[in-house]
Amino acid sequence: MHKENIILTGFMGTGKSSLGRLLARKLHYQFVDTDQLIEERIGKTISELFQDEGEAAFRTLEAKLVQELASRQGLVIATGGGLMMNPDNVATLERSGQILCLVATAEEILTRISRQPGTRPLLKDPNPLQKIIELLEQRAAIYNQFPQVSTSRQSHKQVINALLKQIDTPRKAGH
Ligand code: S3P
Repeated sequence: MHKENIILTGFMGTGKSSLGRLLARKLHYQFVDTDQLIEERIGKTISELFQDEGEAAFRTLEAKLVQELASRQGLVIATGGGLMMNPDNVATLERSGQILCLVATAEEILTRISRQPGTRPLLKDPNPLQKIIELLEQRAAIYNQFPQVSTSRQSHKQVINALLKQIDTPRKAGH
C-alpha cells in the first residue's frame, strides 16, 4: 500500500518534533526529524554548524535531505522551521505527501525555546521575542499556504486529534 508522507512544518518551538513523534506512533509510520538527522550525520549541532560554516551550508544540507526523504514513503517528517522558505523544498515535499503547519503564539514560542537555551542560532538576539515576531511576519505568507493546526494552550492529545482530522480529510482535486 502506498503511504504518503506526512510533513509537519511551522516555526521553531511549535512542537513539530514532539508531536511528529507521537503522530508517527499513532499512524505506525516512521518518524524523521530533519534537524536531528543532519546533526547525527555531520556529528555537530545545528548551532555549531551555523557558527563554523554559516547558515547557507545548513540550508544546502537541508535541501539535499529533502530530496532523499521525498523518495521514501510512510514517514512523518518534522522539518526545521526554515526549511519551507526554499520553494524547491516545498515543491518536492508536496509531491511526496501532505504538509501541515503547526502554529503557536510568539510568547508561547519564546517560553518553549527558552527551555532549550543555545539551540536556536537565529534567535541569538538581545530581544528574542522581537526577533520571533519579525521572523513570523517575514515567513507568514509561506507558512499560511499550508493547513494550520494550533498548538497554543492545547494538550498533545488535542493537537494529535486535530492533525488526524486534517489527515483523514481527502485532499481537494488539484492539491
Ligand atoms: C530554523 C529552525 C530550527 C533549525 C535552525 C533554523 C529556522 O529548527 O532548523 O535553527 O530557520 O526557523 P526548529 O524549527 O526545529 O527549531
